[in-house]
Amino acid sequence: MFARRIAVIGTGYVGLTTGACLASLGHHVVCADIDPEKVDRLTRGEVDILEPGLPELVAENIAAGRLEFVLGARKAIVAPDEPAVEVVFLCVPTPMGDGGAADLRAVQAVANEVRHLLPAGCVVVNKSTVPVGTAETTRKMLGRRDVSVVSNPEFLREGTAVHDFLNPDRIVVGSDSQDAAERVAALYSKLGAPTQLTDAASAELVKYAANCFLAMKLSYVNALSELCERLGADVLEVTEGMGYDRRIGQTFLSPGPGWGGSCFPKDTHALLQIAEAAGMDFDLVGATLRTNTRTRERVVEKVRDAVGGSLTGKRIGLLGLTFKAGTDDLRDSPALAVAELLTAEGAELVGYDPACPTGVPGVTDGISVVDDPLAVAKDAVALVVLTEWPQFRALDWTALGGVIGSPVVIDTRNLLDPDVLRRAGFAWMGLGRS
Ligand code: UDX
Repeated sequence: MFARRIAVIGTGYVGLTTGACLASLGHHVVCADIDPEKVDRLTRGEVDILEPGLPELVAENIAAGRLEFVLGARKAIVAPDEPAVEVVFLCVPTPMGDGGAADLRAVQAVANEVRHLLPAGCVVVNKSTVPVGTAETTRKMLGRRDVSVVSNPEFLREGTAVHDFLNPDRIVVGSDSQDAAERVAALYSKLGAPTQLTDAASAELVKYAANCFLAMKLSYVNALSELCERLGADVLEVTEGMGYDRRIGQTFLSPGPGWGGSCFPKDTHALLQIAEAAGMDFDLVGATLRTNTRTRERVVEKVRDAVGGSLTGKRIGLLGLTFKAGTDDLRDSPALAVAELLTAEGAELVGYDPACPTGVPGVTDGISVVDDPLAVAKDAVALVVLTEWPQFRALDWTALGGVIGSPVVIDTRNLLDPDVLRRAGFAWMGLGRS
């Protein structure tokens, strides 16, 4: 059952985590990427994404001879001196294309490249989030009756991806071939997780259904936080009370500046498209997206009100730029979305993020990124906390108060202790708290 030869195509967050974790379960994994420099770096054990535990896992498994990196899918599949590859994981990007639908060109390119190379009986696994029906499309593109296609969606959160892979809530494997599904499920058997074997279309839909539900939960909480402010209630008290209901649960109930990241925005837009193509207006998902836009605008309204009604020419300090704490990922970050709205109203922005010491051209344009929170506070008329980095709690708020132009904090993550801030002379404003 173990020590099976597996190929993983694509070494992004999902591919690298999948490859390293499968190797740690005892399988022999060959990871392929099209970027030669990345392959060289990974071969030396250098991991350039911020993912706790991943560098160690990569290094350990390279040293144990269970994990290797090669340039291009061909080399991962055709290795004359090795046992034939049994399972090929596709972990290539499926970004949001025009109109919100997933862009499948990378999946298509790999399928075209490997179709004649796959050994008979091998299983191709779609790990990337792909539209419902892609397993079937991939099967047709491969044009091989002796190769099965399986959908095995990942549910990894950035920043805890290794932990999530090794401690999954569930493993979902969908295929029209029971045997192929069982062979893929067996790769994870050491984890002892609940395993659902289903058809390919249902497995593909599980990922969208779960992510859009979570995004809806957050939009609900963010709208609720606005209502709390209007009614003089405290959203933290309300969500705590809601969360004791086991059907709801205490997690994923923290209001913020809107949700973002590499999955939720892409998956909500894609599910809307998928529903529309199936002749259905899935307006709950539409409302989830509209509420997210509104949440970002509401943050800007709060900042504008806090600085006297106009943002023009005002220097605003931003604490946090990544889409959540624990990652260096800026993709679809709500912090950057809020920054863009502030800039559009004429604010001058200076930002600090522990994971992004310098600006990234084309991504953080419009924000002067500094590597010192004091420099963010200097002469600013307000500080806006946008990412829930725990280290912001431990900042020397008295020192920040000494250099800031006007001691005002808008804490969109309800992260800081209001008493500490008040003692340091700051006016503190949270979200959904009176
Ligand atoms: C998500 C899913 O959780 C994961 O299962 C899927 O595979 C990929 O998408 P990720 O994008 O890494 O993972 O981030 P997640 O931790 O889910 O957070 C998404 C966004 O929601 C972030 O912007 C985060 O700040 C926000 N969020 C999360 C809140 O605003 N409040 C919360 O209570 C939780």
